[in-house]
Amino acid sequence: MPKGKLFEPSTELLRKVGWTADGLNEKSRKLVITNEKARLNFIITKTADVPTYVEYGAADIGIIGKDVIAESEKNIYELLDLGFGKCHLMMAVPKEKKRPHFEDYAHTRVATKFPNIAEKFFTERGMQMEYIKLNGSIELGPIVGLSESIVDIVETGTTLRENNLEEIISIMDSTARLIVNRVSYKLKYPRIDNLVTDLKILLKSV
Ligand code: PRP
Repeated sequence: MPKGKLFEPSTELLRKVGWTADGLNEKSRKLVITNEKARLNFIITKTADVPTYVEYGAADIGIIGKDVIAESEKNIYELLDLGFGKCHLMMAVPKEKKRPHFEDYAHTRVATKFPNIAEKFFTERGMQMEYIKLNGSIELGPIVGLSESIVDIVETGTTLRENNLEEIISIMDSTARLIVNRVSYKLKYPRIDNLVTDLKILLKSV
């Protein structure tokens, strides 16, 4: 389970198909929450680490945004688009320093939590950039002169607006996905497949 914005809708969705446990809430400092009767362990971790736990099989399945999956470049299966957690990854710059063309940003510095996606995106467009990896509050980068631009997530647009930044190009759309470890998917196929079927039915009915 990912901490942060996806935690609540993820636990709520799983609860509706009977996958839950007493004490499963984000405020808990307990990192593994067990429902012995249902033979379930919920592992609670930082969003960026969810694909890692699943790739190594420490978790059989996980819920995480498409953006984080793409950035992690982990060897996992993506089973289902869960629909919530809608956002998009984009490039933004301070309004007052906007350059006439997107290409004018070649060879400038980009602050981002998503250097792999950003590098792929700019390289495909023939642009060499300098990537500065940040772990949060990315919007601060160009405001204090750390970078010319950012590559970051936009959900409501509030953070961009409040910091006088303007989106100049969209990079990818994202929603929450159900992911699975490749070996677990074979060994625990009936149980995982039942979960996927139940989730599909539930998602169609909303
Ligand atoms: C994310 C993202 C933006 C913000 C976008 O940050 O990095 O800063 O949400 O949302 P909005 O368009 O609705 O304003 P998050 O809240 O996850 O925290 P972070 O800054 O620590 O990454």
